[in-house]
Parts: sequence; C-alpha cells; structure tokens
Amino acid sequence: PHVVTANCNDCKYTDCCVVCPVECFYQDEKMLYIDPADCIDCEACVPECPVEAIYSEPNVPGQWQSYIQLNADKSAALKGSGGHITEKADPLEGPDCSAKK
Ligand code: F3S
Repeated sequence: PHVVTANCNDCKYTDCCVVCPVECFYQDEKMLYIDPADCIDCEACVPECPVEAIYSEPNVPGQWQSYIQLNADKSAALKGSGGHITEKADPLEGPDCSAKK
C-alpha cells in the first residue's frame, strides 16, 4: 500500500483523497491516512500532494517508518467514526505545516 507521512502533518491539502479510486483516505484533526487494506497501489495520489507526503510502503524514508503502522491504526480507528474523506477541503496549513508553500 501507500503511506501518508510527516509532511502532511498540519498541512492537509486534501488533493490526494479526491483522486483515489477506492476512497481509502481517512482524516483526523492533524493529517490524512491511507487504509492499507483498501489501497490498490494505483499511485494516483502521489503526484497530487503538493508537499510530497505520500510514498509507496517500500519507499517510505527511514525516519518516517512509524507512519506505516500509524496509517493502518488510524484509518482503522477513524473508519465508522466520521473520519472518511473523499472530497477536497480547505487546507489546514497550520503552524506545524513545515512544507508550507
Ligand atoms: Fe496531506 Fe498531501 Fe493529501 S498534504 S492531505 S497527503 S495532498
């Protein structure tokens, strides 16, 4: 599957979830997550993210390895609790959005 990593944190540009053919994105107040059980590795979301937050699992940089399990845990927890996101929303672009443009 693909994995949303640190650059999404406090940014939430949400361009990714719009193009997902299997609608496998979930959100909390800080960032988006991909459900690894549903992701089909189509890669459509990868070029959509303006801060390059999404990687295929084998390509997740070393310092962000924990995001692999985080995406699985968070999407499972957010599923069924209003966390599903399939449409573009205003970006968060909060103070911790390190990749802010
Ligand atoms: Fe996050 Fe990038 Fe999507 S900032 S919400 S992974 S477009």
